[in-house]
This record gives sequence, structure tokens and C-alpha cells, in this order.
Amino acid sequence: MLRVLFLALCLSSGAAFFSTPASVVSRKQVSRLFVEQVEGNPTYKKVFVAGGTKGVGKCVVESLASSGTQVVCVARSDTSVTDLNTIENVLCHKGDAFDYKSIEDNMWGCDAVITTLGGTTEEGKRVDYEGNNNVIEAAGILGVTRVVLVTSIGCGDSKDAAPPAVFEALKDVLSDKEKAERVLQRYYTNTNWTIIRPGGLKSEKMTGKAILTEDKLAIGSIHREDVADLVVKALKSSSTKKKILSAVDMSLGSNVGGEREVAEFQL
Ligand SMILES: NC(=O)c1ccc[n+]([C@@H]2O[C@H](COP(=O)([O-])OP(=O)(O)OC[C@H]3O[C@@H](n4cnc5c(N)ncnc54)[C@H](OP(=O)(O)O)[C@@H]3O)[C@@H](O)[C@H]2O)c1
Repeated sequence: MLRVLFLALCLSSGAAFFSTPASVVSRKQVSRLFVEQVEGNPTYKKVFVAGGTKGVGKCVVESLASSGTQVVCVARSDTSVTDLNTIENVLCHKGDAFDYKSIEDNMWGCDAVITTLGGTTEEGKRVDYEGNNNVIEAAGILGVTRVVLVTSIGCGDSKDAAPPAVFEALKDVLSDKEKAERVLQRYYTNTNWTIIRPGGLKSEKMTGKAILTEDKLAIGSIHREDVADLVVKALKSSSTKKKILSAVDMSLGSNVGGEREVAEFQL
């Protein structure tokens, strides 16, 4: 009885009795407060997308924004900033993944992160490790504990999936992407991360038949729209926590071990 009376007194005198004063709520706590649970699968209200100007990243941005999720991006060119800001629910600022501050400042307030960063500058600087590392580090600093990193088949334990000549041609890029994968796995132990490794990308219409698989020897092609669809589904699925998944499309002749029913990872 006394406990009930005490609880009633606390509630009537304001929840502040138990809660942290707003002025001392940290950036980390604010990020976590955005996450909601719906039937076991999390939903995210504000997602930072690195690499959202084109390819897989742009399809991810369009998919999330069209479902009402707030999307935040940084883009290197004024044209891309203007282009992305014409999409409802998207906020894009000028920034560069090599500039840690521009990533952290824009990620503030987001509750999940997706990065599809890739490519090389005119000076030959690759973004695959350094840029992704900045994104992962900013998420860690801000307490954004959901991160989806898109790399490539050929990274890590999927090395043997890539034909030797392809691996040889791409080995430096793959090695940089793999370094980013390792940072996420080893140093961000509180993070709910998912790594998605697509096969060869094509910019054609979505087939809707692509799959994610844990088969490390899976190899083949996939359309960018299908990768984006799988990335968004993986983001929202609790079964992808700390999983490394290859993304391929068997309807395009991709090889996976066994039948689709056996190979497909259930989201
Ligand atoms: N091509 C393939 O067959 C293949 C196969 C497997 C995996 N992948 C990987 O899958 C991912 C998606 O590939 P994709 O071809 O769809 O995309 P993409 O055309 O390579 O786009 C990469 C994105 O990264 C951004 N970016 C690069 N450097 C940046 C920087 N310093 N600051 C900010 N943004 C930067 C680009 O922005 P800008 O518009 O400013 O350039 C673009 O939005 C990439 O990581 C790629 O390496 C590719």
C-alpha cells in the first residue's frame, strides 16, 4: 500500500522525479529515444544515408522517404544537394565523407545509418575505408546503434566467391571495404550492425527476385533497385542483427549453394 501511495505521489508530482532533466539528456540518449519496437521489428524515424546521391544509395533514399521515414544525406556537389532536397522527407546538406565533422554534424538526431559509399576521387583517394570509417565512428560517438554497411562480394570470407581475375582487379577496393567491415564488427560491440555484400551491380528495373544469403560462395549479378529493396528490408528486420549477407539474384543466373528455398536468408 505504501509503495502504491509513493508511486502515485511521484507520478502526480511530475515524472521529472525519476527522469533525467532535459538539459542533461545526451546526444546518445536522444538518438536511442527515437527507436520504437513494433511486433519485434524495430522502426526508425530518421535515417542517415551516406552515398545517397546515386546508384543503390539513391534508391534507398527514395524507398525510405516514400514510406514516410525522414532521410538525412550529405552530398559533395551542389547539383546533388538540390536534387535530393526536391524529394519529400529528405534533407541534404553539402558535405564530404572524408570530412568527419560534416558526417557527425549531419547525423545528429538520426536513429539509424546506412552507408553505400564507394568510389575514388580524381586524386586517387578511395572512400571505401576512410569514408565508411568516418560514418561508423560518428554513429558510435552519437550513440546511433543501428548501422547497415554495403560492401561487396569478395570481401572477407566471401573472397573465394569472386572469380580470381575479378578479385585480382578489385583487390585494393575490396581490401578497403573489408577494413571498414572489420571496424564495425570489432570495435562497435554495442551496435546492431548488418553488412550486405552485393554481387555485380546493374542499373536495370527491379526484378523483385533477389535474395540475401549467408552462403559465402554466392556469386552473380543483381540490380541496384533490388539491392536497395533488400537493404531497407534488412534495416527493419530484427533477424539481421550482426549478420553478414551476400545479395544476388538467381533469376539473373547467380549461383548459390542449393535451391533458393535453402539459400535464402529469412528477413
Ligand atoms: N559496381 C559494382 O558492380 C559493385 C559490386 C558490388 C558492390 N559495389 C558497391 O556497392 C555500393 C553501391 O554502388 P553503386 O554503384 O550503386 O553506387 P556508386 O555509384 O558507387 O555511388 C557511391 C556513392 O558514394 C558517394 N561518395 C563517394 N565518395 C564520397 C565522398 N567523399 N563524400 C560523400 N559521398 C561520396 C557518391 O557520391 P557522389 O555523387 O558525390 O559521387 C555516391 O553517392 C558501393 O559501395 C560499391 O562500391 C559495387
